[in-house]
Amino acid sequence: MNSIMSSKKIDMTDSAKGSLILVNREHPLKGEIPGKLVNAGGDGVLLESRTAAMLQQLLKDIKGEEDITAVSGYRSYKEQEEIFQDSLNENGREFTEKYVAYPGCSEHQTGYAIDLGKTAEEIDFLCPDFPYAGTPQKFREKAADYGFIQRYEKDKEKVTGIGHEPWHFRYIGYPHSKIMKENNLSLEEYMDLIEKHRYGINPFVFHGNKQSFEIGCLKVEEEQEITISEDAIYQISGSNRKSVIITLWKEQKV
Ligand code: DAL
Ligand code: ZN
Repeated sequence: MNSIMSSKKIDMTDSAKGSLILVNREHPLKGEIPGKLVNAGGDGVLLESRTAAMLQQLLKDIKGEEDITAVSGYRSYKEQEEIFQDSLNENGREFTEKYVAYPGCSEHQTGYAIDLGKTAEEIDFLCPDFPYAGTPQKFREKAADYGFIQRYEKDKEKVTGIGHEPWHFRYIGYPHSKIMKENNLSLEEYMDLIEKHRYGINPFVFHGNKQSFEIGCLKVEEEQEITISEDAIYQISGSNRKSVIITLWKEQKV
């Protein structure tokens, strides 16, 4: 079957936005504002709109709306700066560098990150209790189905540069979340893997339960065009590493 191809322009701005962007000390956020922010249920907690919707669906699925509290979502550069400085004063440099990202380098500035706490009268703002048991553990087990990953794992401290944070979840979207979980990859490691798979040449193929996916990367130099079938279902997200990642939904073969 011949499908009609259309072309799409991609430029450097696209490489720094989208739900797959890697934000860490080596890859600061470019620009200030993520996508549309909406209320995420907690007291003044904002999240990027799809992140908020998926969080609500997941909480509903596990009946976790009561037991789980959204503690911290979107933070502006200025807020992150204040949090970093307050923590330096209160907790010292070692603790702060372990648990608070440098201003400009926090996933919270993207609107795609959420800190969750087990509902309690007092919840620690920087390190909320989110145990590996009960409803929080149910959340963890289903997170990847809804596009979330636990971002700062104990065995990845050297790769992420951040201490173990059982409470910090990052929305990156399905199927990426599932691939990372199944292969025990941090976002840094997942980017390394996907950047080896070129769009249109040797995409990474993932077979989900109902659908297959082709994931390919494209380095962005200034402005360029990609061709894509007009009836394709696809998503384009920047990596924040001067490339974009193109995810194509394919028919599942039976
Ligand atoms: N706690 C994480 C690392 C942040 O401040 O973004
Ligand atoms: Zn966090």
